[in-house]
Amino acid sequence: MPPWNTFVEGDNLDVLPTIGAEFGEVDLVYIDPPYNTGNDFAYADDIRAGAGLTRHEAWVAMMRPRLVAARDVMSERSAIWVSIDDNEAAHLRLLMDEVFGEANFLAQVVVNLNPKGRQLGNGFATSHEYLLVYARDARRTALHASSTETVDERDFPLTDPDDPEGRRYRHLPLRNTNKKFNPVTARTLHFPVWGDPVSGAVRTVPFEGAVEVTPVFGDGTPAVWRWSRPLIDERPGDLVCRRINGRGGERVDVFQKDWLDRDHRGVRRKKLRTIWLAEEVGSTDTAVAELKEIVGHVFESPKPTGLVRRILGTMPDDVLVLDFFAGSGTTGHAVALANLADGGTRRCVSVNSAEPTREGSNARNAGYATVADITRARLRAVADVVGGGYAER
Ligand SMILES: C[S@@+](CC[C@H](N)C(=O)[O-])C[C@H]1O[C@@H](n2cnc3c(N)ncnc32)[C@H](O)[C@@H]1O
Repeated sequence: MPPWNTFVEGDNLDVLPTIGAEFGEVDLVYIDPPYNTGNDFAYADDIRAGAGLTRHEAWVAMMRPRLVAARDVMSERSAIWVSIDDNEAAHLRLLMDEVFGEANFLAQVVVNLNPKGRQLGNGFATSHEYLLVYARDARRTALHASSTETVDERDFPLTDPDDPEGRRYRHLPLRNTNKKFNPVTARTLHFPVWGDPVSGAVRTVPFEGAVEVTPVFGDGTPAVWRWSRPLIDERPGDLVCRRINGRGGERVDVFQKDWLDRDHRGVRRKKLRTIWLAEEVGSTDTAVAELKEIVGHVFESPKPTGLVRRILGTMPDDVLVLDFFAGSGTTGHAVALANLADGGTRRCVSVNSAEPTREGSNARNAGYATVADITRARLRAVADVVGGGYAER
């Protein structure tokens, strides 16, 4: 069994062309490159603002060949997620359009990583950054913009006293509430059903105690059901007849019991919104605490594992993940946690250069001479604490 985590030290521009031969095609790229804040620009090639290039041009010139090299090792079903803030968000968007194609743009997610907001200096207390999401090929991507984790149990408030498993559910009208669907456009879905509002039973044929119910919109005009007659016959236990107070007074209607756990169809998923809150995915503060717990406070702006785990949740559980700006190794940590939680077989390749740590920094004081030493230390600790093994190349 290959290890869940592998670390490669080196400049990513040199390492990227070697990834395919050694690990195969990559399905999911997550990167958190230097944001170009003015003091985080350390990389091996000699492109610097000043030599005829603006600060932004220099950053784009650094990123372009790296994104092109990443694209070359990405599989047909793959996607790439890039963290970025306001310094380069606009330039990165155009660069990604250029490298991956505008048609493969999937989303620009707002991530609320600093819920208190930046308190330094004048101006706004900025509390968010972004994730730019592109598919290698939007028509073939395996990315599902949904998550099992965002399902809110409180949306499913009902239980039946005689259900042995005590499963939670909510009522959804069986009637199609979209006016586009009506007896003209969906003729076969307009038919009467019979329901008993006392016992709740629903059938497609009359029975004792039942009243006839035809689908109508709130204003009384004819509507259609969402389920066909055979589906209603097949799943009567998932329907309930109730007396309700509608716009036109009391009436009898039919509802679907929408279960929180969709046992026979696999897990329920909920579409991901494009604003991700710190309370859902973690914040920079919780990320520092996670890092402190496993190797110490040796990196200034790690990402929370919750953020990467949500990203992982959009892809199958056997993907090859690549982070070529690995920093403290958050992506590898998140991959191990995700595998442990769901039995997945994801593998992660993390790349970081031997960028020296700053003199006098926590990292240097703790004995880490380079950032690569920090990545290594965390991924080793992850293998010890979470499991999945660790290799180095
Ligand atoms: C913003 S940090 C990534 C932080 C990471 N997401 C985490 O949670 O810890 C960017 C990292 O990229 C590394 N880096 C910058 N240029 C690089 C290059 N050309 N090749 C490899 N790594 C590089 C830096 O050393 C730094 O650790």
